[in-house]
Amino acid sequence: MSDEIKKGLIGVISDETKVSEVMPEINSLTYRGYTVQDLCAKCKFEEVAYLLLHDDLPNSKQLEDFEKEERANRPISENLKSIIKNYPKNAHPMDTTRTSVSHMGLEDPDTADNSKEANMRKSMRLLAKISTAVAANFRVRKGQDIIDPDPKLGFCENFFNMCFGKVPSPEVVKAFDVSMTLYAEHSFNASTFTSRVITSSLSDLHGAVVGGIASLKGPLHGGANEAVAHMLNEVGSPDKAEKFILNRIKNKELIMGFGHRVYRNGDSRVPTMTEYYHKTAEYYQNKELPEISKILEETMLREKNIKPNLDFPAGPTYYLMGFDIDFFTPIFIVSRITGWSAHIMEQFENNKLIRPLSKYTGAPHRKIEK
Ligand SMILES: CC(C)(COP(=O)(O)OP(=O)(O)OC[C@H]1O[C@@H](n2cnc3c(N)ncnc32)[C@H](O)[C@@H]1OP(=O)(O)O)[C@@H](O)C(=O)NCCC(=O)NCCS
Repeated sequence: MSDEIKKGLIGVISDETKVSEVMPEINSLTYRGYTVQDLCAKCKFEEVAYLLLHDDLPNSKQLEDFEKEERANRPISENLKSIIKNYPKNAHPMDTTRTSVSHMGLEDPDTADNSKEANMRKSMRLLAKISTAVAANFRVRKGQDIIDPDPKLGFCENFFNMCFGKVPSPEVVKAFDVSMTLYAEHSFNASTFTSRVITSSLSDLHGAVVGGIASLKGPLHGGANEAVAHMLNEVGSPDKAEKFILNRIKNKELIMGFGHRVYRNGDSRVPTMTEYYHKTAEYYQNKELPEISKILEETMLREKNIKPNLDFPAGPTYYLMGFDIDFFTPIFIVSRITGWSAHIMEQFENNKLIRPLSKYTGAPHRKIEK
């Protein structure tokens, strides 16, 4: 057994997966063999969710049944609504969403059943209910009434309606749908790996998702989309953008929305999201934000040769759509629940307890003297 330490598990292949493949060599990411670019162009998020959960794209009957089940499962309990109404007003929405999902586990009739069929039912309920809980929290915090889900609306349209009481133009809905597809899955990233570790002790799906949410919250992972929006606000205007980045580089500060553990030559999801970021900015007639982004990106490339990751265009896109900045990472959950569920079910199907070793560097062997 080698005693070499792989800090951060860099370069370690810990298991097989059939869910997705990050392919830096061809600058692509595939979900069950389909590139995300193709999925964004030709499918809506519901089809991508089906693909991740069921291994293949749905035919029209399968999609119809899937959408029916998702829509029927959207309502959250009165009990959960009242809990959401009572969350401390300054609690972070990632923490409240984590708590809401944990509560869903208390109410779910299948919580203790780890069979494939029960896990599929639980995954569908979480896919349907998490967006309702996030939207309810979004409104309650502003002192607004909760808007119940509308079963006549598609997944993304319904989310907008529950947050804002209206559905925006099709261009804006499409940009959001594309972000949902791009955020849905990304192999053994920190939150997915966390979910698989929790699953590997034969715990349960809700617990594994709660752990995934806690991991996603961190600014080195999902929390970066919030950090990007704060950074753009701090920069303020295009003429200040270059100096801002140069200062940060000089002070050896991390610049959020840049860099990636796996992609060293650019995140394959960025060009697609940037296209929809620009379309959204054009729709809202905002020229400044993309201009600031462009200068930040060019300066980072010139000075550090580091390219942006998905959070860099996704953060400002959500900002333009009117979402509060601290809801950007919960929106990531609304999508990533599909990838987590697929990985949790895969882990259950071929499980081995995940338990690495560590090299002890603490105090030497000693005795208590008394
Ligand atoms: C994503 C991230 C955690 C990957 O980390 P990693 O694989 O450990 O990469 P490394 O820390 O080895 O990066 C290599 C070098 O690039 C630098 N670097 C990487 N990302 C950077 C960033 N966003 N800003 C400034 N420098 C960065 C590192 O400081 C390091 O420099 P050094 O060799 O002089 O120490 C890292 O790029 C990061 O913190 N990015 C910002 C947060 C973010 O956007 N996260 C979302 C990821 S999708």
